[in-house]
Amino acid sequence: MKLNGEWARSVARTMDGVRILDQRKLPWAVEWVELTSAEMAARAIREMWTRGAPLIGAAAAYGLAMALRGDPLSLDRAYAQLLETRPTAVNLRWALDQVRDHVRNLPLAERAEAAFARADAICDEDVALNRAIGKHGLALLEELHARHPDRPLNILTHCNPGWLATVDYGTATAPIYLAHDQGMPLHVWVDETRPRNQGALLTAFELSGHGVPHSVIADNVGGLLMQRGEVDLVIVGTDRVTANGDVCNKIGTYLKALAAHDNCVPFYVALPYTTIDRSLASGDEVPIEDRSGDELAWITGPTADGAFAAVKVTGSPVHNPAFDVTPARLVTGYITERGVTAAI
Ligand code: MRU
Repeated sequence: MKLNGEWARSVARTMDGVRILDQRKLPWAVEWVELTSAEMAARAIREMWTRGAPLIGAAAAYGLAMALRGDPLSLDRAYAQLLETRPTAVNLRWALDQVRDHVRNLPLAERAEAAFARADAICDEDVALNRAIGKHGLALLEELHARHPDRPLNILTHCNPGWLATVDYGTATAPIYLAHDQGMPLHVWVDETRPRNQGALLTAFELSGHGVPHSVIADNVGGLLMQRGEVDLVIVGTDRVTANGDVCNKIGTYLKALAAHDNCVPFYVALPYTTIDRSLASGDEVPIEDRSGDELAWITGPTADGAFAAVKVTGSPVHNPAFDVTPARLVTGYITERGVTAAI
C-alpha cells in the first residue's frame, strides 16, 4: 500500500538481508531497519519491531534463510530459535515449516539460496491471498452497503489487521481498501486496542495514508455504537483459527464479538489459509502469549514539545494476556481467499 505517497511492502529483500518498518516508532517516525541475521530477525519479532501474524511468518522465513547463509547446518537450531519468539500466531510455524521442508533434503551449498527463494514466494503468496480476501470481502461490503445506499457503510475493526501486519493489503483491511478505491462511501471505527494501541497507532496510520475515512475510538466504545445502530459490520483479523472455527485474535476481540452478537451486528473474520491450525480441536488449546506488564503500565509518545516521553499509568501489579478466543458460534462468517464461508 502507499506509504508517504510511494508503494511499499512491509518487508523487502536487500543485498544483505531484508528491510522491515520499525513499527515501534509508527506513526511518529517512519524508519526502515535492515535485518541481516537470524538473531536480528528473532529479536525483531520478539520485541515487536515487526508484528502481525502473516508478517512475523514472513520475517521468520527470511530469518531462517539468513541462518542457513551463515551456516547451512543450522537448520534445526535456527528453526527452534525463531519458533520460540512468539507463541500465538500459527503463521510463524507455518512459514518456518515451509522453508525447512523446502531445503531439508537439498545439498548444503544450495540451502540458503533455496530458503531465500521460498521466503520470497511466501511473501508473494501473502499478497495474492490478501488480494483475494479483499475481492471476496468487497462483494460482502457491496451487499451490505446496498441496504443503506444513502449513507457510508460503518465498519468496526480491532487491532491492526492491515498491510503492516501482513506483506501487503492486510486481511481485514483488504476489502476496505478495495471498496474505498472503487468509490464506496465508508467509514471505519478503529478500536484503540490497548495496551499496545495497534489500532490507534498503526491501523489509523494506514487508513490515513490511503485516505480512508475513519475515527479512533477507545476500546470500550464499540458496544454503545452497536446499540445505536452505528456499526454495520465488524471485520477483524486473526492469529490462529482452530479446526472448530474458534478465532484467536488480539485481546478484546471476544468482547466485540459478544457486543456484536447481542446487537445483531454481523461479525466477520478475515484470514488466509496460512492462519488455520487444524491440529488444534478448539480455541482452548491455543497458547495465549503473556506479555510484559510494562506494556500496560507505561504509555510512550511525543509530548507537546515534540520530545518523546514514557508516562506511567499504574503502579499496581498488572496482568497482560495479549490474545483472546472468540468462539465460532459468535462468528457470522470467515472471509478467506476462497470466498466468504459460514464455517472453516
Ligand atoms: O501482537 P500483534 O500486534 O502481533 O497482534 C497480531 C495482530 O496484528 C492482530 O491480532 C491481527 O488482528 C491479526 S494479524 C492479521
